[in-house]
Amino acid sequence: MAYHNGVRFRASYPRPGTRKRLVMTGGTSGIGRRVVERLLIGHPDWTIILLARPSLRAQELQASADPERLMVIDADLANLRSADRACDEVIRFLDSEVIDALALNAGVQTVSHDASSADGVELAFAVNFLAHFLIVERLKGHMRCGGRIVTTSSEVHDPDAFCLMGIGRARWQDPMVLADRIRSQEHIASIVDRGEARYCASKLLNVMLARHLARELSTIGVIAFNRYRNRTRPQLAATARLEACHACVCAYPPGCSLARAIIK
Ligand SMILES: NC(=O)c1ccc[n+]([C@@H]2O[C@H](COP(=O)([O-])OP(=O)(O)OC[C@H]3O[C@@H](n4cnc5c(N)ncnc54)[C@H](OP(=O)(O)O)[C@@H]3O)[C@@H](O)[C@H]2O)c1
Repeated sequence: MAYHNGVRFRASYPRPGTRKRLVMTGGTSGIGRRVVERLLIGHPDWTIILLARPSLRAQELQASADPERLMVIDADLANLRSADRACDEVIRFLDSEVIDALALNAGVQTVSHDASSADGVELAFAVNFLAHFLIVERLKGHMRCGGRIVTTSSEVHDPDAFCLMGIGRARWQDPMVLADRIRSQEHIASIVDRGEARYCASKLLNVMLARHLARELSTIGVIAFNRYRNRTRPQLAATARLEACHACVCAYPPGCSLARAIIK
């Protein structure tokens, strides 16, 4: 253990200092992992506080990085108590310092069964939206004025967006129904299509959360990030619709990477 201002930290925790702080979910694989690697290599002015469930991947990432630059806090987003405890730990670590960027990137899609979280909530709703809502509620008061919140959404938030693979799309449902593992999108017969529709609904919730936060937090930049924005022609129509959403949320350059969206 190590001490800073009388507060006890694990020895591997980076001490609060002059670096900017990114708090992030979904940094152990995929595009989130690329953000972590990019910041560790090319942006020494950033410290990353990763909220991740315990895994070999998380362990390897922690072991490969300078402990002054990356700390991993246990957080299973399929368990609200775990997400809440992780926020306690982030706040304790901050020790009155501020968060410069909050990236809500973790995402899950289940197409094999009607999965639910530890709290009995439909899994995509729970992980992709609800846990992130809790995290932002707990941490928004610790953000730097002029800081940034990024939620990772997807083209499929839009039921009319073009998709070559014909992904099952969500129909509007009351949030209490969306959160119910059985009733969520139950009008869809195929388990695969139902899982896809639940995922699509959760990605729309990511956009709606960003719009809500942009209205509420006037001093914070808020982005709903869509990784395929402006990449291919057939998606342009959908992009235009998403653009209309983003206009209320925050403008960022076409083709922008998640890392760029986070650190500006
Ligand atoms: N892949 C695509 O084509 C695509 C397209 C559009 C949008 N997106 C969105 O982009 C984001 C990242 O996607 P990706 O493809 O890079 O994802 P990925 O490689 O599947 O990684 C998902 C991340 O979420 C984390 N995660 C999942 N469940 C969790 C839980 N219960 N608790 C804590 N962390 C959890 C995973 O952690 P573990 O290492 O513990 O599993 C991992 O870090 C997601 O929000 C996704 O919806 C993806």
